[in-house]
Amino acid sequence: MAKIPPGVGPRFPQVVVLFGATGDLARRKLLPGLYHLSTAGFIPGCRIIGVSLDDIDLEGFRKAARSALDEFFNRKITDADWDAFARSLDYVPLAAGTEALKAAVAKAEQTFSGESRRLHYLSVPPSAALSAVRMLGEAGLVERSRIIMEKPFGTDLASAVSLNKALHLVFSEDQIFRIDHFLGKEPAQNILAFRFANGLFEPIWNRNFIDHVQIDVPETLGLGRRSGFYEQTGAYRDMVVTHLFQILAFMAMEPPTALEPAPISEEKNKVFRSMLPIQPADVVRGQYTGYRAEDGVDPESETETFIALKCFIDNWRWAGVPFFLRTGKRMAEGQRIISIAFREPPKSMFPAGSGVGAQGPDHLTFDLADASKMSLSFYGKRPGPGMRLDKLSLQFAMHDTGLLGEVLEAYERLILDAMRGDHTLFNTAEGIERLWQVSTQLLESPPPVRLYEAGGWGPKSIHQLIAPHAWRLPFERAWRSPNKLGS
Ligand code: BG6
Repeated sequence: MAKIPPGVGPRFPQVVVLFGATGDLARRKLLPGLYHLSTAGFIPGCRIIGVSLDDIDLEGFRKAARSALDEFFNRKITDADWDAFARSLDYVPLAAGTEALKAAVAKAEQTFSGESRRLHYLSVPPSAALSAVRMLGEAGLVERSRIIMEKPFGTDLASAVSLNKALHLVFSEDQIFRIDHFLGKEPAQNILAFRFANGLFEPIWNRNFIDHVQIDVPETLGLGRRSGFYEQTGAYRDMVVTHLFQILAFMAMEPPTALEPAPISEEKNKVFRSMLPIQPADVVRGQYTGYRAEDGVDPESETETFIALKCFIDNWRWAGVPFFLRTGKRMAEGQRIISIAFREPPKSMFPAGSGVGAQGPDHLTFDLADASKMSLSFYGKRPGPGMRLDKLSLQFAMHDTGLLGEVLEAYERLILDAMRGDHTLFNTAEGIERLWQVSTQLLESPPPVRLYEAGGWGPKSIHQLIAPHAWRLPFERAWRSPNKLGS
């Protein structure tokens, strides 16, 4: 087993109470993540109690966990590791009630010789979050515990405020971890490193030099088994009010006074405070054709599977700079990019027909795929007679550094942080409430959904939304493939 550096894991063994243990997120990410953390030695001891509406027994839960690992764990599973993990599992159907949960936690804690901590993970839709919180309170499981709340946190301002209030009746703020897994992604944290560890870019990181910004996260995948959740949620609540706005905050925030939870949250919250309310006229909602015929979807559903919008951060740094955000299901490509378009020079001395400006403005692009990539595009002279200009680029791929190694998956990193009590990459009540507040007009008067072809880039009106600029995706020039630089 690889040696885990000190300070990476929690000090005490952990009892994880996983609500929504048979759901999609648990299958795809949480059970594989907990398996990796426990078997690779990140946690000194870990027992997992699955809780869900499914009326299954412990053997049924073990089978479900094993099939989740077989499908979604992308490293090797050894028999010895699996046996140890299977022994660490327990299951309590929700119908068995508070006493059964309490007893299961007590039993798990007895297996540790000394002190231990509890981590409650609420992988449930917003409508079910509160009853789980109450159950934990009634079962007396609040002491020595932390709680991870999945997104979306509430469904609008009123529900987020009342969820925060009800949560605070049971848990104190320092026990609460509102998760957004995009912040656990290495490339997201790399935005902070890139901006604040270098003197080169920060001086031009403002409205004087930046023309507009795009945060574009198209997905090729559809809904799988999630239509029940998604019908109530839609692309705005599922992706924008959560992941895309969090990325926007990292991109737009002022330098924090320290790389610590309170200063980072404060700067992110200042960005959210400066955001202008989202105007329904600046939003395109889309739905792919065929969505309404899918299992579990209302044949007249108005849920958006796609959204593109323009928003503004009305502060000294960003006033007047449009931020264009887009995301959707069943689109042409799966990508996660931030693209920063720089202003054009005030005057050009290049002759007509030279090609200057013909391929759009200079761009800095971050690819937030699991292995970060970055590119800086600029005009340069095409070799040969005369002065013909071409768009060229400097590209960096983390792959080429050989540093990638065994990087923790976003959920693994964040679960470990929560076990250690580190709030740096989690959201605050204030931040989330403000994001719902700027969303109010849109949620109350959403523009109609427009159909788009699956496999496309969204409804046609996305082009009007961004005009006179253009969406960076699909890229005109593909990324150069790793290890082939210079070829
Ligand atoms: C989840 C959303 O939070 O993020 C999904 O609920 C989405 O709809 C997913 O597909 C995207 O995450 P990732 O890490 O696969 O880009």
